[in-house]
Amino acid sequence: MKVLKSHQIDDLLKPLLRKGKAVALTGAGISAESGVPTFRGRGGLWEKYDPEIFANAQGLLSTFRLKPVEIVDFLTDLYSVLLKAKPNPAHFALAQMQNKGILDCVITQNIDDLDSLAGLDNVYELHGNAFRLRCQRCLRKINLNREKLAALIKEMKNCRNSKWKFLKLFSQFFPKCSCKDRFRIDIVLFGEMLEQDVLSKAYQAVKNCSSLFLIGTSGVVYPAAGLPFIAKQNGAKIIEINDNPSELSFISDYQILGKAARILPLLIKDL
Ligand code: OAD
Repeated sequence: MKVLKSHQIDDLLKPLLRKGKAVALTGAGISAESGVPTFRGRGGLWEKYDPEIFANAQGLLSTFRLKPVEIVDFLTDLYSVLLKAKPNPAHFALAQMQNKGILDCVITQNIDDLDSLAGLDNVYELHGNAFRLRCQRCLRKINLNREKLAALIKEMKNCRNSKWKFLKLFSQFFPKCSCKDRFRIDIVLFGEMLEQDVLSKAYQAVKNCSSLFLIGTSGVVYPAAGLPFIAKQNGAKIIEINDNPSELSFISDYQILGKAARILPLLIKDL
């Protein structure tokens, strides 16, 4: 693996990019500059909320039954951050790469919706999207309206001391579907299966790409972390952009250490 300095991008990475058929696999680090803390970093979600409880369907259900106010706090903390976040130069650089026809798709582990806000198409959201609900029975999906959601979250925050009020707000947040079951947030919790269609599109993309950019992911959560191995087996070059080495550094051909919002705009300059 070759560690590149910013000035080596022109000589080593741009010729690769000009070949086209690049794919980006992104993680929480790409959204750090948008104000969304990473999961495992300092101040990250899993520092305040135990993922065994809050990223787990059984944990969430039993907390809802026993201490529903903790769910209020979790939802209001999560959405206060997500609703404020805007795409940063790293997301926009990927959108530009796509407009130039050199980036085929983005495979993301993020649920923050920042790729589509940056104008990216062909985004495979492996872990779902926090701005979408999914019916638990018939799997119908609906998008959440950001303004209504912001108002609901604000109301929920204000009535955290009144159980009957916030329980009423929960039923607005998670309405009933026409099939009579309830909607839930369309994200993948620990121990749950990824959506098969999304995962097979991601497999197909990494099999066919000529370069795979790993951007801001610790590479510890599978099956996402397995995708670079498939790309490599099929002859793709692996380029890691991360502010620190990760679990996937060892299979990368090139590594650039630094913030994604600074490095990615350098990649598309003069392309
Ligand atoms: P992590 O929080 O595990 O890792 C974030 C990575 O981004 C780390 O390697 C950081 O060093 C790096 N990083 C932080 N700031 C950066 C910046 N400004 N520029 C570049 N890199 C930066 O997040 P993920 O790898 O996305 O799953 O975590 C994978 C999955 O674990 C998440 O999708 C989530 C979580 O539990 C589910 O919720 C199912």
